[in-house]
Amino acid sequence: MNLVKMEVLFDRSELRKKVAEMGQQITKDYSGRELLVVGILKGAFIFMADLIREIDVPIEVDFMDVSSYGLSTSSSGEVRIIKDLEYSIQDKDVLIVEDIVDTGLTLKYITEILRNRNPRSLKICCLLDKPSRRKADISPDYVGYIIPDKFVVGYGLDYAEQYRNYPDVYILKPSVYEK
Ligand code: IMP
Ligand code: MG
Repeated sequence: MNLVKMEVLFDRSELRKKVAEMGQQITKDYSGRELLVVGILKGAFIFMADLIREIDVPIEVDFMDVSSYGLSTSSSGEVRIIKDLEYSIQDKDVLIVEDIVDTGLTLKYITEILRNRNPRSLKICCLLDKPSRRKADISPDYVGYIIPDKFVVGYGLDYAEQYRNYPDVYILKPSVYEK
């Protein structure tokens, strides 16, 4: 891995511990119930894969893909469904899993759509939260880490589709994207 352009923010062993704690909390909160875990592609896929293996209630998984930043590092505010869920969520306990909540515009849009489909409950779980950049009124129910306004990559998160395979979470040096 070329680490010249970045510094580690959370390493893989911290992430493993944090994700295990989150899974335990979710297991407690949903005890005796079944859960439909909805991953938001693509950023959430690695976090979600680790998280669901720490959840000990019966679960199903599904995925949604929405357009996000494209090649830039700031939200356009325009969100579009690229891939919708395969199954109905009516009367289900739904947990949305997202990599990071930034402006909140993406989740605002997704939660409005999903709420209209009458799930029994709808909660949000994200690994990272940048509340200082919030534009929409979104507060995730489960948050791994609150982070400052820095652009981060790795563990599923990308910059221009790169770095998703890096095993830790890194801060990308602004020189990479400020040109
Ligand atoms: P929001 O709509 O502004 O909350 O943006 C959420 C989406 O933007 C996330 O799902 C990420 O895909 C992307 N995003 C926001 N901040 C970062 C970051 O620091 N690194 C990588 N992707 C990010
Ligand atoms: Mg993204």
